[in-house]
Amino acid sequence: MSETLENLLSETRQFPPPAELAANANVTAAAYAEADADRLAFWEKQARRLDWFKEWDQVLDWSNPPFAKWFVGGQLNISYNCLDRHVANGIGDRVAIHWEGEPGDTRTLTYADLLTETKKAANALLSLGVSKGDRVAIYMPMIPEAAVAMLACARIGATHSVVFGGFSVDALRGRIQDANAKLVITADGGYRRGAPSALKPTVDESVADCPSIEKVLVVRRTGQEVAWTDKDVWWHDAMSEASAEHEAAPMDAEHPLFILYTSGTTAKPKGILHTTGGYLTQVSFTHHAVFDLKPETDIYWCTADIGWVTGHSYIVYGPLSNGATQLMYEGTPDTPHKGRFWELIEKYGVTILYTAPTAIRTFAKWGDEIPAQFNLGSLRLLGSVGEPINPEAWMWYREHIGGNRCPIVDTWWQTETGGIMISPLPGVTDCKPGSAMRPLPGISAEIVNDAGNPVNGGYLALTKPWPSMLRTIWGDDNRFLETYWSRFKEQGFYFAGDGAKRDEDGAIWLLGRVDDVMLVSGHNISTTEVESALVAHPAVAEAAVVGATDATTGQAIVAFVILRGSAEVSTEELRNHVAKTLGPICKPRQIMLVAELPKTRSGKIMRRLLKDVAEKRSLGDVTTLQDSAVMSLIAEGMNSAT
Ligand code: WT7
Repeated sequence: MSETLENLLSETRQFPPPAELAANANVTAAAYAEADADRLAFWEKQARRLDWFKEWDQVLDWSNPPFAKWFVGGQLNISYNCLDRHVANGIGDRVAIHWEGEPGDTRTLTYADLLTETKKAANALLSLGVSKGDRVAIYMPMIPEAAVAMLACARIGATHSVVFGGFSVDALRGRIQDANAKLVITADGGYRRGAPSALKPTVDESVADCPSIEKVLVVRRTGQEVAWTDKDVWWHDAMSEASAEHEAAPMDAEHPLFILYTSGTTAKPKGILHTTGGYLTQVSFTHHAVFDLKPETDIYWCTADIGWVTGHSYIVYGPLSNGATQLMYEGTPDTPHKGRFWELIEKYGVTILYTAPTAIRTFAKWGDEIPAQFNLGSLRLLGSVGEPINPEAWMWYREHIGGNRCPIVDTWWQTETGGIMISPLPGVTDCKPGSAMRPLPGISAEIVNDAGNPVNGGYLALTKPWPSMLRTIWGDDNRFLETYWSRFKEQGFYFAGDGAKRDEDGAIWLLGRVDDVMLVSGHNISTTEVESALVAHPAVAEAAVVGATDATTGQAIVAFVILRGSAEVSTEELRNHVAKTLGPICKPRQIMLVAELPKTRSGKIMRRLLKDVAEKRSLGDVTTLQDSAVMSLIAEGMNSAT
């Protein structure tokens, strides 16, 4: 951590792909040229990586923008593509999922096993009255049945709505009601932080106000006691009665596959709708291209929860469609010890790891000596997703996890985009720490100003439709138009809501949500840039920056900083460090040293709450906070510091 960051754009470190990876890469530089020459033909070729019951008549129908239809007239079944065809191709004995429970119990499911389970679950759903087009809510821990439940829904054409198992009664109830779901699939509980954590009581309380729910299917995971109603059915009972024969029926390419709710910070969550053919085409291709997956030899691990889109696209549909062998882990990274992830990598010989910057910064904070105790030599490729990754966190990941040998793919995308959009190709791209680099082949993105004209610093816009794009917000076409398509209506661009910069080599640097830009004495300063400058200081593990109203400068920079292990540094030194790195205009007015930062359950820093503290207001809504005690500690510290 000795190198200091000038600022994001003068980052000069660059890492070419390892020669061996480049020589054997799944996708080469030719893909960019191919897609540039004929974008639709390129996606058509990627669609042919899948098995279709009926070929499409038209690649893209964009006659009623922004309501896209991809592979019009085509028919396929997602569950067939993820399971049956692999078994038919003779790889039924390949392990699909190495599952490890938090207490250390394990299960191994081959593709043949997963297919049998999915067929039985499909029959169980049918016998419980679920039919094509119905919505099914899934509220589960990270156990194989979660993937089976999703695949079984896809198999019979029921639209799933997975709700993250950490969400509350209100959140679950609201999502069930919005989608009018007919059935919930849940479990008695799952293991979190060394103890069983109940799920069923939350379902019981939610379902009491959800007349659309006819049945609740309950997996026994922890064995903890559960209340029972006449709507409840044990998963194992339903499965033992179900036939293991089930033929996957063809679905239209535009058949609704899933709804996934994204939590806005204040407003009602948006039910993002994804459909079948375009979605699977893009997640399957991007998983193959970005992770360079060699299904015969790689052990792939994505540490996300299936409650997030990352779990949908890069645990379930992408990897399984590609015949991957993957690790699935139920619990938290610090149970029973802070080296659990590294222990699992050593145990299973994980070769590809996909995780989030918030986790990486936490590992760095816990100390270099923890991963050093394990053999991480099997790793050959690392990925990052969820937020901008600070250059120094990227460097830490590269050195301490990747042994300075693994390329890092920083993948930018959203629940709305369905699949990865901007990312290096590991066999092609010279990576810069902290940059997602450039749009993938077949994807068109621009950085534009308010008027929609290309600039080097501004808003990220997606300028052409892509196969796995959201089709609408469930039940609310107007909100879909308003949220994503009204900002650049004239140009017909999709507004991503992120700020971005382009450097002289054309590399794209994501700067966080546009609401996270501060206006200090008339200068636009991104919270991400100041945070990265702070994280580049050897004493700093994590930083969150907000703009607080200031009588003199309009907004002033206030930073909340977590120090590394035993580091000691004055806040004055940190303020000067930022001023020296980014320029005096970026010098924070105030720096608070804190023990924790408020984060959402998906790991994003809730700057809105920190802003409340910085402006000494009473706190807004804290219900989506991962740990609500964090905020009172920070607020107390702030009050005693001033
Ligand atoms: C927002 C989308 C994509 C799955 C997980 C998050 C931020 C995501 C990156 C990245 C910079 C990133 C953006 C985006 N984001 N990945 N590699 N670099 N920012 O999905 O909850 O829908 O959030 O996450 O701000 O808009 P999501």
